[in-house]
Amino acid sequence: MRVAVVFSIFLTIRVANTISDKFFPPDFVFGVSTSAYQIEGAWNLSGKGESMLDYLSHTYPNSITDRSNGDIACDSYHKIDEDIEMLKHLGVNFYRFSLSWSRILPTGSIEGGVNLAGVKYYSDMLDKLKAAKIDAMVTLVHFDVPIGFIKEKMFRTEKLNQMFVDYARLAFNLFGDRVKYWLTINEPAGFSKDEMRTFYTDRGRDVYLTAHNIIKCHAAIYHLYNKEFREQQGGKLSIALNTDWYEPASDSKEDIEAAERALMFEFGWIAHPLIYGDYPEIMKKAIASSPSPLRLPVFTYEEKETIKDTVDFIALNHYSSFLTTNDPNKDVDRTFDKDIGILKTLDPSWETTILDWLHVAPSGMRKVLNWINKTYGNKPILITENGYVEGGTLKDDRRINYLQTYLSSVLDAIYIDNINVIGYSTWSLMDNWELYSGYSAKFGLYYVNFTSPNRERIAKDSVGFYKNVLESRHLVNNRNAGNHV
Ligand code: NOJ
Repeated sequence: MRVAVVFSIFLTIRVANTISDKFFPPDFVFGVSTSAYQIEGAWNLSGKGESMLDYLSHTYPNSITDRSNGDIACDSYHKIDEDIEMLKHLGVNFYRFSLSWSRILPTGSIEGGVNLAGVKYYSDMLDKLKAAKIDAMVTLVHFDVPIGFIKEKMFRTEKLNQMFVDYARLAFNLFGDRVKYWLTINEPAGFSKDEMRTFYTDRGRDVYLTAHNIIKCHAAIYHLYNKEFREQQGGKLSIALNTDWYEPASDSKEDIEAAERALMFEFGWIAHPLIYGDYPEIMKKAIASSPSPLRLPVFTYEEKETIKDTVDFIALNHYSSFLTTNDPNKDVDRTFDKDIGILKTLDPSWETTILDWLHVAPSGMRKVLNWINKTYGNKPILITENGYVEGGTLKDDRRINYLQTYLSSVLDAIYIDNINVIGYSTWSLMDNWELYSGYSAKFGLYYVNFTSPNRERIAKDSVGFYKNVLESRHLVNNRNAGNHV
């Protein structure tokens, strides 16, 4: 008895010390995130055209840990009603999902024709979300660009930019009356660096060309929305930017600069042009002083004027942290990573996961929010992705711990640092096809039985946790409460 009392006092103090007891502000919004290729399946049904991810997973199965693909995935194309029931059960304010461009425009272009079945799928879904009083946050492109883009060297030339703008116009026309938040593209830095890598001929150059054109596309779509849609539709538009937190590994000037450089290469690469009109000086300098100094494209004066100030809020995907040591690499063979010139290591106190890039370092969330605020001004920040990976369990107490500690870090950023964080969405509603890990890496609040044709969804313990947070708007005393559907 005595032991139990002492233990419970100890636990209360420990929790009180680490988990914020503040309430989320009344207008703070919560959601869950998914993307089309990772959940929909029906890859070639009802008129859908082939996408880059269809092609990649079919042509290079060895690049995926379990050699799987998203041909069926969670079969959300057929199970959207169940998905919406799960969203309702969780009590989310919004659902972040993406449109499959090639389901709507099978060839990618308007001239190739509009697939009415694809349009109906998304239109019905938006109606159902509206009936459930769940706001829609829609990503136009979440990696799965139409296959034609590969043949046409993707975004490396400006040739296809207009196609992206036309697709956006169509999406605004068809769906914009029911969409509160638009994201033009998911993780352009990750997309340019990782997803496109297979298709590059000159990696150290193509990576920058791809991002350069994506930045121009985003800005063109932002102006299109302003000019033709904002007044009657009243949505908010941004772009989902990813970054880890980079902590200097020592107090040395070199390591402090290295960490700043890493943040600038990952986040500033896209954020800087879209907020200030040009690439970060640190990035320009690092590439200009490399053995191949002319690889970063240059924006003209007119382009700078057009691209700057084109986000309504900052959309952040954040999961993990690294310790950063300066690594002045002098190789002649230049790549993006060598341009950054850092070595990444882990703090031994961080819990590791089954993925080598994801460590549980909740303080990184607060630090990255502070860094964004310091670097880009007091813009509203909406966390569009954050989540935990495991190999398959319904008793996902490690996910609960991750969500609780990261959300506590968000509360600290709001209440202690006065950062304008307006919402949070966890990746992901359910287990799905993870890039390069297939079905072996599970990020879902709901487990999905991928061996069953019905793809049953089963609530993990974290469903009860997240639901309680959303209801109580509070993190303390929620850990094991309210399990399951
Ligand atoms: C980044 C991506 O947006 C998403 O597609 C991916 O599944 C998650 N984060 C987890 O890696």
